[in-house]
Amino acid sequence: MRRPLMAGNWKMNNNLASARKLAADLVQALGGVEQVEVLLCPTFVHLQAVMEQIKNSGIALGAQNCYCEAGGAYTGEVSAAMLADIGCKYVIIGHSERRHVIGEDDGLINRKVLSALAEGLRPILCVGETLQEREDGVTEKVVTRHITGGLAGVSPEDGRRVTIAYEPVWAIGTGMTATPGQANDVHALIRGLLSEGFGPEVAAEMRIQYGGSVKPDNVKGLMDQPEIDGALVGGASLKAESFEKIVKYYE
Ligand code: 13P
Repeated sequence: MRRPLMAGNWKMNNNLASARKLAADLVQALGGVEQVEVLLCPTFVHLQAVMEQIKNSGIALGAQNCYCEAGGAYTGEVSAAMLADIGCKYVIIGHSERRHVIGEDDGLINRKVLSALAEGLRPILCVGETLQEREDGVTEKVVTRHITGGLAGVSPEDGRRVTIAYEPVWAIGTGMTATPGQANDVHALIRGLLSEGFGPEVAAEMRIQYGGSVKPDNVKGLMDQPEIDGALVGGASLKAESFEKIVKYYE
């Protein structure tokens, strides 16, 4: 069975002191949780401080982005190798804010996924349609393009280390969550695409998270869906109390 992955994407929030405190509070609340895997993704500059707080707690560390080259003259970028070196296990790639605010495309995102895998990291590939695309009836087409483009050239063996996060753009930070049924339908589509690309056995092992206004009061309905294997949480992961409730949705 797939062990759910409950991840906090802290985005560009916190200062050093508040990042440390949030991590310390979460170790108190969630250290030793076994039913799910817990992951924290602070900004690059807070990774090491968070790592110091969570080490030996069972909580994993991840970054919110990486560059697609291992090293060299790329001013301002951070490589997957550097992230692996300081103890990151995961890296979020292709988040909608990077696609739509920064302008990343599927080609660059694919190179980042391949680089993360080459360095031993577990990429979380984010996919999802905008409100306009949903209204235009092209959700399936957009998600298919994100999945096939983002995972081009990934071997089935490496596919096992990939997590997909389905995050409909219209649900991110808006308070509008996809209904559990709407989310599960897209997750089922994604599972089918993964099966076509990697074979049914690998696809059955891969986790597909939902993200977009996940809160303590809607997480259970989402997690009850057969194809939803975890949550990628933004706003509600910035308070220890609400993230604890989300992680412990099963209680
Ligand atoms: P919110 O939970 O704030 O909607 O953000 C979701 C998200 O983008 C997680 O990556």
